[in-house]
Amino acid sequence: MSQTIFQIQSTVIVLIMTMGIIQRKKRNIHVPLMVLAIFWDIVLVLQIELTRSAIAKASQALQNPMILNIHVSLAVSTVLLYFVMLYTGRKLLKEGPSIKPLHSKIGKITYILRLATYITSYFVVLR
Ligand code: HEM
Repeated sequence: MSQTIFQIQSTVIVLIMTMGIIQRKKRNIHVPLMVLAIFWDIVLVLQIELTRSAIAKASQALQNPMILNIHVSLAVSTVLLYFVMLYTGRKLLKEGPSIKPLHSKIGKITYILRLATYITSYFVVLR
């Protein structure tokens, strides 16, 4: 049951992030959508950890199926890149466009990693 609730939240987060990227030229839309998606995603990770001791399971990397290790690595990388996106996004707002190419490049990588996390989550859940 909680698994379904996690997957629904994850789907909504990916959709919000996709809308935010489509609207990337409109700051008044892009910024709130991306901040919402990032914070909700971090809250989702906390929910999964608190209900399923995900960190304890994930840290047994040698005993875990390969797909779970891949999924966890993708998820951790995504959350780390969220902090880079918050940092470069804030800088872009405050100090102007010089950091825009970096924000854009890391933004694309972050989005691809989030999609890969989403896709692999189904294989982890179905086992
Ligand atoms: C995962 C999160 C994010 C992704 C994937 C992302 C992605 C992007 C992309 C691809 C662009 C277009 C850059 C270009 O036109 O060359 C952009 C622009 C921008 N982003 Fe983000 N972003 C994210 C989060 C944020 C956050 C958290 C903020 C603010 C705190 C932010 C602020 C901006 C601003 C101000 C622009 C420039 C908009 C303009 O063209 O005037 N972004 N972002």
